[in-house]
Amino acid sequence: MIARKVPHMIYGADYNPEQWPEEVWEDDVRLMREAGVNLVSLGIFSWARLEPSPGEYDFDWLDRIISLLHENGVMVNLATATASPPPWLAARYPESLPVTQNGVVLHPGARQHYCPSSSAYKERASELVRRIADRYKDHPALAMWHVNNEYGCHVAECYCDTSAEHFREWLRARYGDLDTLNEAWGTAFWSQRYAEWGEILPPRSAPTFANPTQQLDFRRFSSDALLKLYEMEKEILRGATPEIPITTNFMGFFKPVDYWKWALREDLVSDDSYPDPSDPEAHIKAAMSRDLMRSLGDGAPWVLMEQTTVRVNWRERNIPKRPDVMRLWSYGAVARGAEGIMFFQWRQSRAGAEKYHSAMVPHVPTETSRSWSEVSRLGAELGRLDELLGARGEAETAILLDWESWWALELDSKPSTAVRMLEGLYSFYEPLYNTNVSVDFAHPGSDLSSYRLVVAPNLYLVTDDSVENIRRFVADGGTLLMSFFSGIVDAQDHIRLGGYPAPFRELLGLQIEDFVPMATGETNRLDTTGGETCDLWADLIHPEGAAILASYTDDFYAGTPAVTRNVYGEGAAYYLGTRPEERFTKLLVERVCDEAGVRPTAEVPPGVDTVRRKTGAASFLFLLNHNQETVEIRLPSPGRDLLTGKGHDSQLTLDPLGAAILQEERHKVDV
Ligand code: GLA
Repeated sequence: MIARKVPHMIYGADYNPEQWPEEVWEDDVRLMREAGVNLVSLGIFSWARLEPSPGEYDFDWLDRIISLLHENGVMVNLATATASPPPWLAARYPESLPVTQNGVVLHPGARQHYCPSSSAYKERASELVRRIADRYKDHPALAMWHVNNEYGCHVAECYCDTSAEHFREWLRARYGDLDTLNEAWGTAFWSQRYAEWGEILPPRSAPTFANPTQQLDFRRFSSDALLKLYEMEKEILRGATPEIPITTNFMGFFKPVDYWKWALREDLVSDDSYPDPSDPEAHIKAAMSRDLMRSLGDGAPWVLMEQTTVRVNWRERNIPKRPDVMRLWSYGAVARGAEGIMFFQWRQSRAGAEKYHSAMVPHVPTETSRSWSEVSRLGAELGRLDELLGARGEAETAILLDWESWWALELDSKPSTAVRMLEGLYSFYEPLYNTNVSVDFAHPGSDLSSYRLVVAPNLYLVTDDSVENIRRFVADGGTLLMSFFSGIVDAQDHIRLGGYPAPFRELLGLQIEDFVPMATGETNRLDTTGGETCDLWADLIHPEGAAILASYTDDFYAGTPAVTRNVYGEGAAYYLGTRPEERFTKLLVERVCDEAGVRPTAEVPPGVDTVRRKTGAASFLFLLNHNQETVEIRLPSPGRDLLTGKGHDSQLTLDPLGAAILQEERHKVDV
């Protein structure tokens, strides 16, 4: 269960009552009851209203709205209001403003205009949090804490002088002395040797490529600087209310912040998610984020903290979700472990930059609104899903993701800057999703022993511990599928010498003589029966025991192996030295799943997403039809659809964009 005080599926939104006259609040709570809302995130952007001038606080309005919500059965996910400082903070402490890499100061007038290392920001923010915590800690409506908002969303790093000082402190703690730092940063190169700590700067705009390790460390530092802010607030809240769960909202695969580190420090994971309705694969990309969220919390239930009912306002063209899509995508989140579905925001703003962003309550009268009827329907349905609470997903496959490796992979001055982490992850996630295989994401250093198959896309940077962890996984009988440009550097972004990829040569049974990055539009071909093409990258592989599964057919490296398999210990390690067209990756993924004994969740028609969640006593099969046509599904077990209450024996018909959650009668099902 997400929060003891809301022992149901959570349903609600960000609620910004300060944007409205109080008469509207009565209407708000009436409509919240109508829609089945049981939790709202309150006060996220209220700092200027709560502390109109320095040290002068006004909580009366917040007291009134919290009481009104409580009287109406709506619990509160109370925000700490530190996400957007009031203009007075910048006026009084101009040094609190963030500075970009080019030295440009970011001014107030939008939001998130603070330097994460600013002491003025930290002092004023923590005082505000203390007062909020103190005032509401015993309020019966308080169900959860919402710390700040989307850390790093607009300002993930700051290059000001204070940040430079803090960066140096962070480096001192990491390296101890300057010689060690000089060694780690490889400063013998380009005369970069530092003689004094004071000479070290963040990687500000420079004539050409900045030192890669300096850049990597600055990313580590910047993620940690934000994490410190979170911990500063968390400590205050924990002291006031040891029992109330604390979260801050993530943003899916958000590069600047290492969510593995963060999730460990949260009571529950929550996520904001805005898939693009104009992208035909949006639901698959959304599923990938949902699987990440479940994995970050080690399988525990999480909350979809924000999504939109219909449209956002921040793309160039804000394509609406078609009828039934919001419902279907919401169940996509529930299928992958969400026990809360919430929106940005409750009532659509009348003014400000987000007035064209849809909300649960639209500008137009609710009686004439398609989205309101969808909102009410979903609220009523979620109210019937208490049985699902605590049910967990089960995955036999893990895709490895390490934020540090992601940062290092995408630094400049590489063989090819076209190799992108998310594309690498997705190139394997998509075929796994399409074969109905459940996937976790895992850190390469984490316990992999529960998986049969581990996929390691472009795992560029690896620590010795991760190398040993992956090696042991295969030696103990696991199946590994690793793709190109993996195991190339250590934690300092230094090449691991001894023939690429040095730490995995024995495991993979090969050596890579060289990389051949391909030009835009350039392809090669594999000597498979299907003759599939490949692009982006070609590793020139010399097998050292590995069996060759496919070789290139063209160019100066025709006949060189591209795909291999090596038996290692009790397991097997596959290596993919290029980016093949999807058809090939799909076949390869099917083969490794088969070999690893990874089973699909169920056999369903294409375009149907199927996921299972289980408790000790029950098993729930989600069937989500992303097709525009009706589909017939042969059920692996008879069961009852929680959404309709209807029983189904062996067959179930799903409407276009329809969803079913089947409580299975037989729950140890072999497909
Ligand atoms: C983010 C923010 C919200 C809002 C939405 C709009 O998720 O957290 O405050 O700006 O984006 O999509």
